[in-house]
Amino acid sequence: MAEEEREKQKRFRYRINVCCSSSCISLGALKVLKSFERAVKELGLEDQCKVARTGCPGTCSAGPVVLIEPGDYFYEGVTPESAREIVEEHVIRGIPLKRFLYSVPEFFSKQKRLVLRNAGKMDPLDIREYISRGGYAALVKCLTKMSEDDVINEVFKSGLRGRGGAGFQTGQKWKFVSKAAGSPKYIIGNLDEGDPGVFANRTLAEADPHAIIEGMIIASYALKAEKGYLYTRAEYPLAIETLKKAIQQAKSLGLLGEKILGTDLNFDLELRLGAGAFIAGEETAILASIEGMRAMPRPRPPYPASSGLWGKPTLIQNVETLANIPLIVLNGGEWFSKIGVPHCPGTKCFSLTGKIKNPGLIEVPMGITLKEVVFEIGGGVPDGRRFKAVLVGGPSGGCLPESQLHLPIDYESLTKAGAIMGSGGIVVLDDESCMVDTAKFFIDFCVDESCGKCTPCRVGLVKVRKILERIGHAKGVEKDIDLLAKVGEYIKEASLCGLGQTAPNPVLTTIRYFKEEYMAHILDKKCPTGRCDMGAEGS
Ligand SMILES: Cc1cc2nc3c(=O)[nH]c(=O)nc-3n(C[C@H](O)[C@H](O)[C@H](O)COP(=O)(O)O)c2cc1C
Ligand code: SF4
Ligand code: FES
Repeated sequence: MAEEEREKQKRFRYRINVCCSSSCISLGALKVLKSFERAVKELGLEDQCKVARTGCPGTCSAGPVVLIEPGDYFYEGVTPESAREIVEEHVIRGIPLKRFLYSVPEFFSKQKRLVLRNAGKMDPLDIREYISRGGYAALVKCLTKMSEDDVINEVFKSGLRGRGGAGFQTGQKWKFVSKAAGSPKYIIGNLDEGDPGVFANRTLAEADPHAIIEGMIIASYALKAEKGYLYTRAEYPLAIETLKKAIQQAKSLGLLGEKILGTDLNFDLELRLGAGAFIAGEETAILASIEGMRAMPRPRPPYPASSGLWGKPTLIQNVETLANIPLIVLNGGEWFSKIGVPHCPGTKCFSLTGKIKNPGLIEVPMGITLKEVVFEIGGGVPDGRRFKAVLVGGPSGGCLPESQLHLPIDYESLTKAGAIMGSGGIVVLDDESCMVDTAKFFIDFCVDESCGKCTPCRVGLVKVRKILERIGHAKGVEKDIDLLAKVGEYIKEASLCGLGQTAPNPVLTTIRYFKEEYMAHILDKKCPTGRCDMGAEGS
């Protein structure tokens, strides 16, 4: 089928990929798609030119985005009215229309697109396109040439670490689940992604759902698991629709269900929706949610690998982690282990947002520095403002100043600096941002999202918020800074789950790197930026 589809595709001289992911749709991409289809038809080019609805290539702020192949010509801000002109110039005359060409090629300069290999180039609703691009070949390789242990060993050899934030060795987790006693075994794909401003997993699902599904089927083969759940939030309607269709298509081709591709492998995959709480992405909270209870964490051990869904061994894996699996199986663990840095191989997808010239979704090799990401890929801070800090790791990440931009992106370096990898959020702040206010913003988020089960997080975060409010209302005293640090460390130490264990990070890092700004609020009763409630004149 792959060969047949490739031959079909070869017949087209041009391929017009219209991004129809969430952001471009909100900017009118569906009308742009229709206009291209109409223009190609009216100009009699249907035999030469394929118009495809694709996922997001990452340049969302430039949407609606259209990618014309061959040659990877990116068009930005395309309107329905300009579609015909682009076809006439690019396809008929062979001259790309400069007026709409994407103006920031450096956005792609240092990226390495493995997980997002198909994003923007393939119709996510057409399984044949995935197959023609090498999709499901890894599954076939597992089923025909590899034993279960071979697959686990390749994943182990690759050194892949979980992309959901904690960075646990994936191969090790697979070994635990494989050896755990009990049946049935379950696989859970974690696509909850509750971090505000983070959209990497959603975009992956909208652009390449089969990469996630194939990763899950391979895991089911390696671990002898017969049932899987993809867990996402109801707030992701396009991702849900895309995944639903992809699951149906995989079933119709015998890639899911009983006797997969005529072998003894049975694997049934179901989509489960959460109501959209940040805590629902925590692994033991997902278990509770799928079991029909409120998504609240429970103490570990026992870990889900030995006692997960309904007490049975369960593999919980972030969907970006899963989308790496087919590549590892096809190319070998050793190939993967050489990408990125030795202790942290591979790539990582990040949502790059905030005060940055080129926001969007990027995929970079591990070990790239923050400076390269912010200034080379992101193009730095716009509007003549100055860079102030970068928040890495979502709402419980750390705010790092310019002096830390040399840091390579890997789990250990970020943790040492007070940040975390999280699920891939990078937010750039400029010199107009008040760091006390920024810390309060994220503490507010964590107070709202705390499930309230354990006291350090439930009570401690409210205490931190009160102190920050006091400082912001010009009522702070110098010892509040020590108090914040002490309570913050205590919450990190004593909380039951990762939310409480990381929530104080924005406060602790802003104290560590921007203490003078706290002092100005406390001693001078002024905000140096004049941006928080206190204002430049104090309150
Ligand atoms: C508050 C909280 C929210 C989390 N949200 C997610 C999430 O949305 N997606 C995710 O993959 N992991 C999330 N995690 C991490 C998971 O608990 C778990 O470590 C991960 O899904 C394991 O997969 P991995 O090994 O592939 O990273 C969250 C953790 C915490 C503490
Ligand atoms: S740390 Fe916070 S979110 Fe986690 S269990 Fe305790 S109260 Fe709930
Ligand atoms: S949604 Fe279209 S480029 Fe990202």
